[in-house]
Amino acid sequence: MTRLLHLDASARPGHHGVIAHGSHSRALSHRFVTRWRAARPDDPVRYRDLGATPPQPVDHDWIRAEFTPRDRRDAQMVARLAESNALVDELIDSDLLVIGAPLYNFGMPVPLKAWIDGIVRIGRTVLFDPSRGDDPYVPLLTDKPRRVVVLSSRGGHGMDEGGPLAHMNHLEPHLRTALGFIGIDDIHAVAVEHQEFGGERLAASVAAANAGVDALVDTLLAETPAPVPAAA
Ligand SMILES: Cc1cc2nc3c(=O)[nH]c(=O)nc-3n(C[C@H](O)[C@H](O)[C@H](O)COP(=O)(O)O)c2cc1C
Repeated sequence: MTRLLHLDASARPGHHGVIAHGSHSRALSHRFVTRWRAARPDDPVRYRDLGATPPQPVDHDWIRAEFTPRDRRDAQMVARLAESNALVDELIDSDLLVIGAPLYNFGMPVPLKAWIDGIVRIGRTVLFDPSRGDDPYVPLLTDKPRRVVVLSSRGGHGMDEGGPLAHMNHLEPHLRTALGFIGIDDIHAVAVEHQEFGGERLAASVAAANAGVDALVDTLLAETPAPVPAAA
């Protein structure tokens, strides 16, 4: 079984192509998960709508709780870390992370950054070991292979990795750095561009992104061991 964790971070609630002003990144992530489930209906999917229900951002209480040794945390500290711990548990449990995320002002939307701040956790997803000198960080999510698919949308164009305006897009690079830091390096990306231009350029980009998503599902399915049949 491959356990999917599906996140959406757009502030726009509906899907492009279904409602007026619907989200492209949500449409792409929905397409990915629907196609995956058509091939492997028994794979469980856990869904978090970060755009609708953003994780609480890091604040002073969170930092005090996080940097108090576990056995000395009071009930308030335990409560403050509960959401972050749930996000970590969900990530640890997953094999395939599907992230739908728009590009906002050159980077990721606030709710997705709050999720990242919730899952990069000393002692849970990364170890800080000062005895290692200048390289004290040890990623902890190396217990099993985890794959990530980032499905994005942008108003502009030329911002795919390697593109002429890639330097104006810190979303995928940021995710690669943060997830790589905790041990997840197998990251794939597809994006719609030209959203702000509309018309034929947007239509062509949506068609190309849909084809890219379908091809990516097929590639990842081909790499995935067949599910073990249930015992009779
Ligand atoms: C607050 C905000 C900031 C944006 N910043 C950028 C940007 O820096 N670069 C860009 O190409 N598009 C930018 N856009 C356009 C969005 O990336 C585009 O509308 C995208 O389709 C949104 O994703 P969604 O369709 O999933 O909601 C921005 C849109 C908003 C609302």
